[in-house]
Amino acid sequence: MRSISRTVMTAALASLPLINAITPEAMLAAPRRGAAVANPSGEFAVYSNTNYSFETGEVTTIWEQLNLTSGEISTWSTNSNISEFVFVGPSNTSILYINATNEEGDGGVSLYTADAADLSTASLVASLPAPYSGLKAVATESGDIHFLVYALAYPNGTAYNADTAETPASTARIYTDIYVRHWDYWLSAERNAVFGGVLSSSSSGYSLNGGLTNYVTGLCNATCAESPVQPFGDSGHYDLSPDGSQVIFLTKNIDLPLANYTSSQIYLVPFGGTMNDSIPLNPIGATPDVEGASSAPTFSKDGSKIAYFQMNGIDYESDRNIIYVANSDAENSNITAVAGDWDRSPDTLAWSHDGSVLYVAAPDLGRERVFPIPVDAAAGFVPMNITDEGVTAGIQVLPNGELLISDSKIWSSRDIYTVDSKGAVTNMYLQANLVDEALSGLGPQDVSEFYYSTNSSEIDQQSWIIYPSNFSEDQTYPLAFVVHGGPQGAHFNSWSTRWNLKVWADQGYVVIAPNPTASTGWGQNLTDAVSTHWGDYPYWDLVHAWEYVNTSLPYVDTVRGIAAGASFGGYMMNWIQGHPLGRRFNALVTHDGVTNSLSDYASEELWFINHDNGGIFTSPNTTSPYYRWNPILFYENWATPHFVVHNDLDFRLPVSEGIMLFNMLQVKGVPSKFLNFPDENHWVQNRENSLVWHTEIFKWINYYSGVSGADSPY
Ligand SMILES: *[C@@H]1O[C@H](CO)[C@@H](O)[C@H](O)[C@H]1NC(C)=O
Ligand SMILES: *[C@@H]1O[C@H](CO)[C@@H](O)[C@H](O)[C@H]1NC(C)=O
Ligand SMILES: *[C@@H]1O[C@H](CO)[C@@H](O)[C@H](O)[C@H]1NC(C)=O
Ligand SMILES: *[C@@H]1O[C@H](CO)[C@@H](O)[C@H](O)[C@H]1NC(C)=O
Ligand SMILES: *[C@@H]1O[C@H](CO)[C@@H](O)[C@H](O)[C@H]1NC(C)=O
Ligand SMILES: *[C@@H]1O[C@H](CO)[C@@H](O)[C@H](O)[C@H]1NC(C)=O
Ligand SMILES: *[C@@H]1O[C@H](CO)[C@@H](O)[C@H](O)[C@H]1NC(C)=O
Ligand SMILES: *[C@@H]1O[C@H](CO)[C@@H](O)[C@H](O)[C@H]1NC(C)=O
Ligand SMILES: *[C@@H]1O[C@H](CO)[C@@H](O)[C@H](O)[C@H]1NC(C)=O
Ligand SMILES: *[C@@H]1O[C@H](CO)[C@@H](O)[C@H](O)[C@H]1NC(C)=O
Ligand SMILES: *[C@@H]1O[C@H](CO)[C@@H](O)[C@H](O)[C@H]1NC(C)=O
Ligand SMILES: *[C@@H]1O[C@H](CO)[C@@H](O)[C@H](O)[C@H]1NC(C)=O
Repeated sequence: MRSISRTVMTAALASLPLINAITPEAMLAAPRRGAAVANPSGEFAVYSNTNYSFETGEVTTIWEQLNLTSGEISTWSTNSNISEFVFVGPSNTSILYINATNEEGDGGVSLYTADAADLSTASLVASLPAPYSGLKAVATESGDIHFLVYALAYPNGTAYNADTAETPASTARIYTDIYVRHWDYWLSAERNAVFGGVLSSSSSGYSLNGGLTNYVTGLCNATCAESPVQPFGDSGHYDLSPDGSQVIFLTKNIDLPLANYTSSQIYLVPFGGTMNDSIPLNPIGATPDVEGASSAPTFSKDGSKIAYFQMNGIDYESDRNIIYVANSDAENSNITAVAGDWDRSPDTLAWSHDGSVLYVAAPDLGRERVFPIPVDAAAGFVPMNITDEGVTAGIQVLPNGELLISDSKIWSSRDIYTVDSKGAVTNMYLQANLVDEALSGLGPQDVSEFYYSTNSSEIDQQSWIIYPSNFSEDQTYPLAFVVHGGPQGAHFNSWSTRWNLKVWADQGYVVIAPNPTASTGWGQNLTDAVSTHWGDYPYWDLVHAWEYVNTSLPYVDTVRGIAAGASFGGYMMNWIQGHPLGRRFNALVTHDGVTNSLSDYASEELWFINHDNGGIFTSPNTTSPYYRWNPILFYENWATPHFVVHNDLDFRLPVSEGIMLFNMLQVKGVPSKFLNFPDENHWVQNRENSLVWHTEIFKWINYYSGVSGADSPY
């Protein structure tokens, strides 16, 4: 599009109506809904709904109830003390919930039983002196309730409560092994642990019988067990058998140092037993070549089997997840792969009622689709998807065998619907874009995709196109070229409150969001190929994607183009700045990226650094990826105006990377701006901070693309 004259461009932009466009404020204030959870008889489902008011500065969370027969949605509870609930107890509407406070007001929580049809029946059953969360519970044959929760625990096994913990006189932190810090916190002696408890049933209701049992703390060898594994582990790292007799939890491999390995194992322990009774279900060696990270351990509905995912590679976080099914008897586990050579990496699973089918969700061609897989599927079985657009947030098998799906799309923050086992949508309950004012006008017409050929992979690669509201093919719009993080990840057809590509498009851009080498969902080869190739394969792919846009999409004005990315996408901005593609953009935006690859070890997950650089750090060596793909070694070429964001609590990529980038741009006299949040990590989540993030970045790119017509980028 380099031939389009600036005069024509400006006229087109000036006439761009902003009606129905979604602004950063509207997106940030809009409702955010959790995944729907149906009651055992499948009559209704409940989900949380959180919004924000920029006027009052208040976050409001309510719970909504969806009648699965009539589709009617009503308020279930406005009481924000209810932080979690599960359906369990004598009737189909009985629940157990966590109240985020307790009567002691000591930083602990309390447990209540209630009837979902009438929350005023709530009855206090236990006050717990620590901030437990992650509630799972089942009713046993005797009528008692067995439950699991998790919390940080001291090395002696006692649950940790920050509100009542003693503050030492000195703030010193001392370490003899890693991690020193992880994601956004410095490590202390406390680690996550799964705790179990019993609520005894009597004619007067339930009461806590005895204390809670810690199943995890103290299981130590080279390292000590931790479950859920921080920083992102949650209740998906443990499960309770449907009869309440067995607990499974997942921990990093206790025989291996944390510095080098991702391997994790699932332990089985009898409910009420001790940590000493726990047995690993999938120790290294249980299945030849399977040594990697495990996830999603889940009992079948009859409790006889456990399904889970595991990767082969012992030090890789983005290897292919393979589905396994094992007997829930560690002595006779009979671990069997399910559709073991399927070239997709599922990450969510649900059992069918009869235990014959596993419903899994996996990244697939830019979506996260649901696939039913028979548990006896052998190698060679080719799963067929039963959902299409969107990224799945929740799958629940209803009593009638249909699936209750909660997902999101680029145009909708939450859709809730049912599908049958063949993929027919049987009920469409909620589409946020049709009910939320902020999303009004958004729809599938806002999004398209294209495939282009490139010289790094045999397969063609995909890119999303996101159009501004009231898009017309007869007009032209500057290019916003957005590179995803990971690098093993993807731009999906999903809603985001951090990088909402529709919000970017509605500033007046056509957004191009390519899925180059490294992207997940097109087979493991494309994902794996990025390792030791950060600066060449994905860079070439992005050049090809840009060329495709430039020659094939007449409505995109590349002359006015800008590019942006976070994390690996930020690294790529810094790399592009030193390479010819950098000269094709009027402005660049780096959010929390790598500036100097020789500083990689200031990160925390060092097995990732080792893996993607083809080994541990080497002394000066021109063939080593640490040197070859280092953005600062191309400093002499830096010239494009560059906006830099980097946050203090980002321990994945320390803030010094962003400061160094900005300082080097300033020394060279390249127009640049630095934005820092002292209270944000690798992501910007506080809505007020996010509004500033959007406002400042948009001021910058809208000046350099000409969208704003402003006379200064500042
Ligand atoms: C947020 O949700 C509450 C409860 O549903 C509602 O009363 C309020 O109007 C909503 N606020 C905004 C800004 O949407
Ligand atoms: C759901 O709606 C149906 C049909 O209107 C009604 O009969 C039923 O009582 C409702 N269920 C609940 C749990 O409100
Ligand atoms: C929980 O309840 C207490 C006492 O009713 C109240 O003061 C507090 O604001 C509530 N906390 C939350 C997080 O809703
Ligand atoms: C729950 O609902 C199912 C289906 O309607 C019914 O068969 C079952 O008896 C109910 N259970 C209880 C405990 O009421
Ligand atoms: C939560 O606990 C607080 C403190 O004990 C109590 O005042 C409040 O009523 C409880 N709320 C609910 C919904 O259980
Ligand atoms: C465990 O250690 C913590 C912190 O030192 C202490 O407060 C707690 O009393 C200990 N628990 C037991 C059972 O000794
Ligand atoms: C600790 O790990 C080593 C090395 O894997 C192993 O030989 C040993 O049996 C383990 N010890 C315990 C108590 O698990
Ligand atoms: C980590 O792996 C490297 C490379 O294989 C090896 O040299 C080193 O000894 C390992 N470190 C530990 C603590 O096992
Ligand atoms: C092990 O699992 C396979 C696959 O499900 C099954 O065919 C076989 O009978 C099982 N063997 C035992 C001993 O359970
Ligand atoms: C499965 O995915 C394909 C694209 O690969 C899509 O066309 C199809 O509609 C999906 N099937 C269902 C049942 O959603
Ligand atoms: C992945 O790469 C391997 C090794 O080059 C090759 O044998 C295999 O056929 C490739 N798989 C696919 C699905 O392209
Ligand atoms: C240089 O780095 C490469 C790749 O990391 C490695 O294979 C090689 O052994 C290194 N050579 C020296 C002299 O360190």
